[in-house]
Formats: sequence, C-alpha cells, structure tokens
Amino acid sequence: MQSIKSFILQAIALLSLQSTLPAQNYQPSAGINARVEALLAKMTLEEKIGQLTLYTTDWGSTGPTIREGYKNDIRSGACGNLFNSHSTTFVRELQKVAVEETRLKIPLLFGFDVIHGYKTIFPIPLGEAASWDLDAIEKSARVASAEASAAGLNWTFAPMVDIGRDPRWGRVMEGAGEDPYLGSRIAEARVKGIQGKKIGDPDAMLACVKHFAGYGAAMGGRDYNTVDISEKYFREFYLPPYQAAVNAGAATVMTSFNDYDGVPATGNKFLLDNILRKEWGFEGFVVTDYTSINEMVNHGVVANEKEAGELALNAGVDMDLQGGIYQSYLKKSLQEGKITEKQIDEAVRRVLRLKFELGLFEDPYKFCNAEREKNTLLAPAHRAAAREVSRKSIVLLKNDNNALPLRKTQKIALIGPLADNKTELIGNWNGAGNFNDCVSLKEGLQGASLQYAKGCEVEGTDKSGFAEALRIAGQSDVIVVAVGEKAMMSGEAAARAHINLPGVQEELIMELCKTGKPVVVVLMNGRPLAIPAVAEKATAILETWWLGTETGHAIADVLWGEYNPSGKLPMSFPRSEGQIPVFYNEKNTGRPFDPNSKWTSKYIDEANSPQWPFGFGLSYTTFSYNNLKATPETAATRGLAAGKQVKIRVSVQVANTGKVAGEEVVQLYIRDLVGSTTRPVKALKGFQKIALKPGESREITFNLTQDDLSFYRRDNTFGMEPGAFDIMVGGSSSEVKTVRVDVK
Ligand code: NOJ
Repeated sequence: MQSIKSFILQAIALLSLQSTLPAQNYQPSAGINARVEALLAKMTLEEKIGQLTLYTTDWGSTGPTIREGYKNDIRSGACGNLFNSHSTTFVRELQKVAVEETRLKIPLLFGFDVIHGYKTIFPIPLGEAASWDLDAIEKSARVASAEASAAGLNWTFAPMVDIGRDPRWGRVMEGAGEDPYLGSRIAEARVKGIQGKKIGDPDAMLACVKHFAGYGAAMGGRDYNTVDISEKYFREFYLPPYQAAVNAGAATVMTSFNDYDGVPATGNKFLLDNILRKEWGFEGFVVTDYTSINEMVNHGVVANEKEAGELALNAGVDMDLQGGIYQSYLKKSLQEGKITEKQIDEAVRRVLRLKFELGLFEDPYKFCNAEREKNTLLAPAHRAAAREVSRKSIVLLKNDNNALPLRKTQKIALIGPLADNKTELIGNWNGAGNFNDCVSLKEGLQGASLQYAKGCEVEGTDKSGFAEALRIAGQSDVIVVAVGEKAMMSGEAAARAHINLPGVQEELIMELCKTGKPVVVVLMNGRPLAIPAVAEKATAILETWWLGTETGHAIADVLWGEYNPSGKLPMSFPRSEGQIPVFYNEKNTGRPFDPNSKWTSKYIDEANSPQWPFGFGLSYTTFSYNNLKATPETAATRGLAAGKQVKIRVSVQVANTGKVAGEEVVQLYIRDLVGSTTRPVKALKGFQKIALKPGESREITFNLTQDDLSFYRRDNTFGMEPGAFDIMVGGSSSEVKTVRVDVK
C-alpha cells in the first residue's frame, strides 16, 4: 500500500504542474547581498576562481563516475560547480565532498541539459513549438523541472532560444523555429516552467537561456560556423527571444560558440555587457558554452589560452564551462594586471547569490530526497501531460480525400523503419530518458486490425524488405508508413547538406503509392525536410517530430480522430535545399516576385514559396475568417497628450465550418508599408489558440500596442513611424485576410 508520505509527494508532483506566477527579470532577493559579501570576505583567490569553474562528470556503462582530478578540485575548492551528474545518490555523494571536506563548505551547483524532459520525455522543442500552446509548453518545462530537481539537479541548460531559419542546421530541433515573436512567447513559457513559482522552491531549477547570441545564423547551416549579420537585423530577428527569456526571470545565460561582428560571443563585451547587462538589466550569471573560452584561440582573436581567459572575463563571462582556463590562468593574469580582483569578485558574487537563492546553504541536499525522486520520475500525471502536449505538437500537412482520420474497421498495413521503433523516439538531448519507457507507434495502434513490415532501415541501400511491405500493403485498406531521421541526425554537430529522407525510405513510399491504396506518411524528424515527391504523391502526411515517451499514444489519438490535429509549423519546410534560407518574414526587395516578369527576385528552376510555410497546419475540420476590423486610436481619439501610446484593436469572426470540433491557431501579422528601413512583408504580432465546436463562431480580438508596431529605425532607435499598416489575420502565414489602417 502507498505510504502517506509517498502520497503527499505525488500530490506535490501534481500541484507542481499548475501554472506559475507572472514573469519578471531576476532580481537578488532581500538579504542575499549581505550574506554574499560576508562569505566573499573570507575567500582566497583560488576559492573565488573555483566558484567560476564548472566541470563535467561522466556517465559510464556501470553508472556515474567522476575523474579523480575533478574530485580533488572539489576538495580543494578549485571546482565549485558540476554538470552531467544526476540522481540523488550521485549528487549527494559529490555534494558531501563540497560541504564536508572543503574549507568554506560552499555547496556545488549541479547542471544538466534538461531540454525536453528529464525522465518523462516530451516532444523535441521544435515539435512542441508547433503546438503554439503556451500553457502546455510551460507545463512541459514544469514537469521536466519537477523531475530533474527531484533527481538532484538545480540548474538546466535550457531554454535554447536561437532563431532557426536554416533547416540544415541540426540544432533547429532544440529551439522554437524561425519567428522572433513566437520564439519570445515560448522562451517566456519555458523559463516560467523551469523556474516555477520561485527560485529556491524544491521543485524548481535555475534556467539558462542559450546560446547568446545569434548561434542560429551560422553560415550555411554548418554548426559552429561564423555569423555575420547587421546589428539592425540581429536586433529585430535574433535577439528578441533571449531578451524575453531574461525578462521572464532566467537566472543564467550561456554564451554561444559563434562570433558576432568579428568577435567570438564568449569574448564579446558588446553582447555581454552593453546589451545583456546594461540594456536588459540582467543580474544573473553568464556561463560559457563547452570550452568556448579555449576556442577563441582557434577563432584567431587571441594568441593563447591565457589571453582568451582575459578576453572572456573582461567581456563579462562569469563561469568557465569545462575549459579550465580560469582555473589555469586567471591568477597569473591578475598578477600581470590584465584583469582586476574587483572583476573576479563581481563574477563570484553573481554565482554565490544564486547558490544562496536556491537555499543550498540551508540545505545542500534539498534536491536529494530519494523517495521524492522515486515518486516523481515518470509519475502518471507527467506521462499524461506528455501525451497531451505530444498530440498538440503534431502537424497535419496533407489530407487528400479525408484519408484521415482512420476508421476502426479499416485493415491497416503498418510499414516503415520507425513504425515499431523505440530507440529514436526520445530524440536528441534526451536527459535521463530511457527509450524503453516509450510507447512505439505499433504499440499505440494496438487493438487495430493491422499487419506490420519494416520495409527498410532509416539509412542504407537495402531494399530486400520492400517485397514483404508491398505484400501486406496489398492486403490492406490503408497504408501507414513511419519514416524519418535518426535522433542523432539533428542536434549538436549534426548539420545536413541534404535534408531529404535518408536511405531508401522515399523509394519505399513511392512503391507503396503505386499500389493505389491511400498512403498515410508519418514523419519523425528533427528539422524541416525537403520532400517534394512525398508531398505530391502521399495521400496524407503527419509531421510528428520526435514526441518522446508518449509517442505511440499521441499519434494514435490523431490517426483515430480522438484528437483533431491543431499543430502549426514553427518553421517553413523548403521544397529543395537551394531555397534555404526560406522563411515567411522576408523583406519585399526592389523587385518583388512577379510570375510575368523575368527581372524579379526568383529562381529560374524553383518556386520562391516553401513547400509548407510557417504557421501552416490542417485540421479534420475547416475554419472561416470573416469581418476583419482594425481600429487604431488616432491622435484625436487618444488625446494629444504627449507620451500616449498608439493602440490598435483588431477583431475577426472565426467559425468552425466543418463537422467536428477542432482547435485553431488564429495568427495576426502586420506589415508596415513604408519605413525608414526596409520592413518584413509579414511579421507575427499575436496569436490565440481557440477551440470551436462544429458550427460555432466566435469573435476574436487582439490589442496591438505601439511596441508591436515599432522597429529599429534608420537612426538605430526603436520606435514606431506613423503611416499605413496592413493588419493580416488567418490560420497560416500564407492564408490571411487583410485590412489596411492609417496610424497617425
Ligand atoms: C554544448 C552545447 O552547445 C550546449 O548547448 C550544452 O548545454 C553544453 N554542451 C553542455 O552540455
């Protein structure tokens, strides 16, 4: 029988799923600074540098391990923080060394990449972004944080908020796609979910917004590559999600591997000091990415590692992740006068503040309750939350002849290398997830009349399985074929120059299409793919990304119509690699596309438009948009008092015109027709996810603010320029109703 204690712990787990408080920038709480100063006054230089040092532990086949050198560094106070160590027993063992064997007994921070779940694995972040459901996304981060904090952790290297416009870049799977507005709202939701009601609660961790900044603009989509974009472009399209995360209270920030304006981000004072600390008022600490101080030697901006450490500290980096540079060289740099002790002290203060904030000095083992760990990980409420957001993340890309939903009477041929697979479902950056806990698609469809054949592998040229696949296809009413990428084909260091379906998977689909039976393609992948032949020939296509632990249940819910798909793409899918980057919020150019004129901006061998644009996604029902109205407050109606902000009230009537209930993401875009700098042809400025019964109609309203109409003007100031604006509302970036307003 369940003990009362474990019942209470489960109740806490359920309560922790509830929504959190409104966001605000992290500010040290009262009394913390005095405690920090008192401790700082007792510290030696070596101990101070130790607080700025972060090392990894390992996870070998026999369990967790730590290199002997690092353990000694903890003992001497030379290493004040660890990452990759998790589970209450291992964390307790290491924390014990810090608080029992060191001179000042300063507890360690324990960081880990909890990106889309700790043990209960949620959809990959790009997939979850397709839900456009901020409550569900916040809840997902809340569950991840509740689980990870129950397993000893107090710091996660998330959220990743890099804008992803290049699907060749493998790390687009970790972010929220191509749009700064959607990316900002999701960044806020994730920070709120991770940090919970407040830092210091036992089920909350420190968030770490990354990678600051502009990592997503790596040239050619090649990971770790150079970034070179104008400051205006950078501020308008790349910076907003980082700022939103900071404003939502993110306690820490991780630098990025790339350079910006010729200076690596890890040594970039303009980014770390001018923008992050001075403009945005960030009061947490900055950690590097993995050995990114050392890599400044390769970037060619310093001659050696000692200089790299000086550049980083002078730019505003507080903590060195795995590079060991601060540990090896800061003392010497100080003796040579290249840095000051005041700078070191300031960095140490920032780190210590958050250790106090977390309550580690009161109870260094507060995240190490083994019973809580047992009751929290994979709790039924967590799996239920994962199933909920997983089905919301699925995007219906095509549905000819209403092939979907399937009927229970249909005989199904279930085919494809990912149909009966579990190993890939947890995707990349899968925390402590175990693929054996996943529900496969085949398991999700249990009870259906179905036959299964693998057909082929994800990669390779072997077609020997085609015959069996075609045989069972011939005996079926409908073919469901699950194809895609392997989990490790996206994420870090996984750029692809060819973003097609790997191996012979596309050939398998083409053979199946020749049977004349309806072919439902279930895609599992970590980036937009270029699959024009599949787009043309398949009867129906579901984009399911990698959904994690509850994959099979979530896909089955959608296939059966027990859940009506409502996901919308957070990133455009190109027709071919040659179009990349292709994104919706482009500029008009001096020669905008005109099909009747050769001398306009286009390809001679490819369309300009993507295969499926940002914001696109079908439903088993249909929605109509009518009566779009936009009423700006003019100078006259708002009074001429200086400083009064412009507002535009937008309303639209949205109706469910089909036969089943469904959810729609109502999207609002604007275009500023004349600006002192070129403006995007569309820019998302609002969205609402609504549920409508068949025949139901509802007026949806938005209130646009002056900030929504503002941009970085020719003189680099941020503000609005009066004039004509197009206000567009619809269910996709490519299908909108438009009304023009004059803002005075
Ligand atoms: C390198 C990755 O770029 C970063 O995202 C991650 O947090 C660190 N490694 C730590 O694992």
